[in-house]
Amino acid sequence: MPWDGSRKKSMRKPIVIGNWKLNLHREEARALIDELLRGPAHPWADVGVAPVLTLVEAVKTWANKSPLLVGAQNVFYEEKGAFTGECGPRFLAEAGASFCIVGHSERRTLFGETNDMVGKKVQALLKASLMPVACIGETLAQRKDGSLWDLLKAQLKAIASGIGSQSNPSNPSNQANPAMGICIAYEPIWAIGTGVTPTANEVEEVHAFLRATLAETLGKAFANETRILYGGSVTADNAKALMALPNVDGALVGGASLKAGSFSTIVASLSA
Ligand code: 13P
Repeated sequence: MPWDGSRKKSMRKPIVIGNWKLNLHREEARALIDELLRGPAHPWADVGVAPVLTLVEAVKTWANKSPLLVGAQNVFYEEKGAFTGECGPRFLAEAGASFCIVGHSERRTLFGETNDMVGKKVQALLKASLMPVACIGETLAQRKDGSLWDLLKAQLKAIASGIGSQSNPSNPSNQANPAMGICIAYEPIWAIGTGVTPTANEVEEVHAFLRATLAETLGKAFANETRILYGGSVTADNAKALMALPNVDGALVGGASLKAGSFSTIVASLSA
């Protein structure tokens, strides 16, 4: 199904999220937050960082009353019980998180996270009024053999099932608009940490496909309002061109989010 997203892009507030992964110890994290807070305001975009779990509460405290969103990189879908080592959504909310990344390819490949688990995590986060940032993406082999479309559809449908079974999702920054309460992040696995990105045409083709698939499963209005982020080797140099694409509403940034300069340049690339 073709998707004319260009007229609608302005309805969606851009969002940039820094996924710190297993990086930045306490003092490094503090220094980065201080530097980001000294930088220019960014009223055109939501901006968030996802530190290591033990630092979520501290980063939220350091961010103080600034609009910086603080989130987690993972969650378990049960709220409480005999689940040694896990952390449920309400515990994240109590620590000050307002969003959580789920389904990152590193969790899928290294820690066995399945589509079914990702759907459950999405549902649990929405129930706790936390915004899921749900990641999907293909390997290079899947792109080359053309199986990426079926794969992406299956990954997205699992996420949609988590949304669909949650009757009243809400969002920290936009209570009035349920679709703003979840972000989809397209992260081709072969682009993560490699310095290689898909072409602009390839990124736009996938994002338009994802929006059309969302329209099929959750309705056109929901699809139109949902923010779809691109992630995978986003840098200060390539952000402007990627972020200008009609169906790209922001970025999920790994390596370049660890330095205030590159992260701020990526945020600035979304203005105007
Ligand atoms: P890089 O920006 O380092 O490629 O990482 C992308 C990513 O995995 C963000 O979640």
